[in-house]
Amino acid sequence: MMQRASDAAELRAIVRNLRADRAGRVAFVPTMGALHDGHLALVKTAREHADVVVVSIFVNPLQFGAGEDFSRYPRQIERDAALLESVGADLLFLPGVDSLFPHGQAAQSRVEVPGLSDILCGASRPGHFVGVTTIVAKLFNLVQPDVAVFGEKDFQQLAIIRRMVADLNFPLEIIGHPTTREADGLAMSSRNAYLSDDERQRAPALYVMLQNIAERIRSGQRDFELLQSEASLALQSAGFVPDYVAIRRAEDLAEPSSVENALVVLVAARLGQTRLIDNIRV
Ligand code: PAF
Repeated sequence: MMQRASDAAELRAIVRNLRADRAGRVAFVPTMGALHDGHLALVKTAREHADVVVVSIFVNPLQFGAGEDFSRYPRQIERDAALLESVGADLLFLPGVDSLFPHGQAAQSRVEVPGLSDILCGASRPGHFVGVTTIVAKLFNLVQPDVAVFGEKDFQQLAIIRRMVADLNFPLEIIGHPTTREADGLAMSSRNAYLSDDERQRAPALYVMLQNIAERIRSGQRDFELLQSEASLALQSAGFVPDYVAIRRAEDLAEPSSVENALVVLVAARLGQTRLIDNIRV
């Protein structure tokens, strides 16, 4: 049966016991809840890599900017808990805001990955990635996993977390998991629940655009500026307000030279009130 912990002391005691009982590796999947099949795929992958699987649900206020959706972010703990139990999670960590930030959010020490956190989504969401790396570093220190699994849908987040783990010598392995998609190609996201019926019908155009750029790059088009601006126009015609369409080096999200061959195309665009992100490797 899946156990639950709601503060650091409880979490540490249960992880210690589980680790001792099973004498094995601990895998960790941090989430903000409102779970979908993409999250469950991360948990199943965690299961394959470890004997104990810990999942956290914490809607982290530090990573939401003023005017973003912190207060209306979907929260459905009992449904999430049942889903996690069905895919074999051993422990659900459900900390409260006060237990994680006892001195208040403003006074909380921060963990920052400079550079990588300031581009793309970081440019339009200042402070977002510092909020992510701060909470993920805290959760790593609390759970002390051997391996942690993150979705590739948040490609920039994954790159930043890998850099943080390397720079700060966290003793754990990071696994990136491919994006889980709906039948029509839309990347699964808890924020898809915000879309109206009409927006939901239009939303797959984001992935169609990414596939189109990927195909053009594969067939030799190397004028990245042109591809990016054409893609932005295509998104506008489909009813999106693009934030960026960016062709980057997959390894470090730097701007690529025209001979670079491990690329990623990243997009962020608003559809109505909802900000969607997606990416494709080329
Ligand atoms: O990807 C998310 O859901 C969040 O950014 C994370 C990693 C759980 C940190 O709050």
